[in-house]
Amino acid sequence: MKYCIHDITLAETGQQKIDWVGKWMKVVNRLVQKFDKEKIFQEKRVAMCIHLEAKTAYLAEVIQKLGAEVWITSSNSLSTKDDVCAALAKKGIHVFAKHGASEKEYWSYIDAITASKPHAVVDDGGDMCRYLHEHPDYTTHLCGICEETTTGVSRAKHLAATGSLKYPSLGINDALSKYLFDNRYGTGQSTWTAFAHLTNMSISGKCVVVAGYGWCGRGVATIAAGMGADVIVTEIDPWKALEAKMEGCRVMPMRDAAKEGDIFITTTGEKNILRPEHFKRMKNGAFLANAGHFNYEIDVEGLKKMAGNPVKVHDDIEEFPLEANRSIYLLAQGGIINIAGGLGHPVEILDLSFGLQLASLHYVLSHPNLKPGYYPVPREIDELVVKERLLADGVSIDHAN
Ligand code: NAI
Repeated sequence: MKYCIHDITLAETGQQKIDWVGKWMKVVNRLVQKFDKEKIFQEKRVAMCIHLEAKTAYLAEVIQKLGAEVWITSSNSLSTKDDVCAALAKKGIHVFAKHGASEKEYWSYIDAITASKPHAVVDDGGDMCRYLHEHPDYTTHLCGICEETTTGVSRAKHLAATGSLKYPSLGINDALSKYLFDNRYGTGQSTWTAFAHLTNMSISGKCVVVAGYGWCGRGVATIAAGMGADVIVTEIDPWKALEAKMEGCRVMPMRDAAKEGDIFITTTGEKNILRPEHFKRMKNGAFLANAGHFNYEIDVEGLKKMAGNPVKVHDDIEEFPLEANRSIYLLAQGGIINIAGGLGHPVEILDLSFGLQLASLHYVLSHPNLKPGYYPVPREIDELVVKERLLADGVSIDHAN
């Protein structure tokens, strides 16, 4: 067994967290029972590059339980939970991940995982997909990639459109059972629980600026409004902007919103959404956080150039003193706040996303001859997952005449 983690003695605490979430992942548990008989996962290697916390660890455990050899790393070192990594290593899963790993370590872990020559891949953000394109010698057994998030799906679609996607890639994110729930309610709730947990401050009565009104942004905005915040949305898409207005948010360019916000949350998937021209205009005491996949939505380097090195207030809060006796606060170093600074999505929500992952891995492994290209998750898998959740929740619905 191979692993590279911070501290194996943390395994017991990590295992408690995994066991707790596993209890509530009812769709995943029902699918495990269904797939167990079919032996599709047996003697297969599954490589995973995904935020490494308790719920993803549970997914890794069930894939191992179904008979596969699992290799796992984290898609973002700021969200990696070291105790969970230790628990996986103890269970014989090949885990290469450390909280706070450097960029160089990050890519060396991806190399270690992909060198296992996996039959199927769970990717989150598209870095493993990119690495496999650069190292085709690792893809001799590859049946397909299941991509978790918006950013990774756009990268896969872009490769497909230019004819350079060399492997089958299933866009988990674009399944209804994913984005309607995970991006919206999951990011919405967990961004605010992480904010409250880190700062111990109220959301009600604050002016919250949400950059981007896609599925994540609308979840973050809706929950903030529900808690009594005054919500401003910034957008570049005119339809999304009008939707935000119709939902009761104020809409304006970031240049204007910068002066008004008490709390800024970026959810665009794009670079440098908050940058020096905005920091200059912000109020004393403004909080900055990112809920998009990559760490680049807040220009932290630009902030450091303006303010000098930050003062670490406590774990995951940095104070940047600016001119005119103003300070602004960066949460979770600009990493994905709900996972880097909190517990991530609620369990029931990731149960849907990981039900889709498990059923899509099963699909890819049982269709080893799919042609290279982008594939939506088959409708029957999407429907199976949402219906399993309804069943697990004891909800029945009418049928069309
Ligand atoms: P989306 O594509 O539905 O929404 C993004 C929105 O940002 C779009 O409406 C777009 O017009 C807007 N936008 C782009 N550039 C902008 C700019 N300069 N200013 C203002 N708005 C701008 O994407 P979705 O699903 O909401 O995902 C957003 C990001 O969050 C992605 O990186 C995704 O991978 C990530 N994500 C994070 C999760 C979490 O747990 N925090 C969960 C799911 C996705």
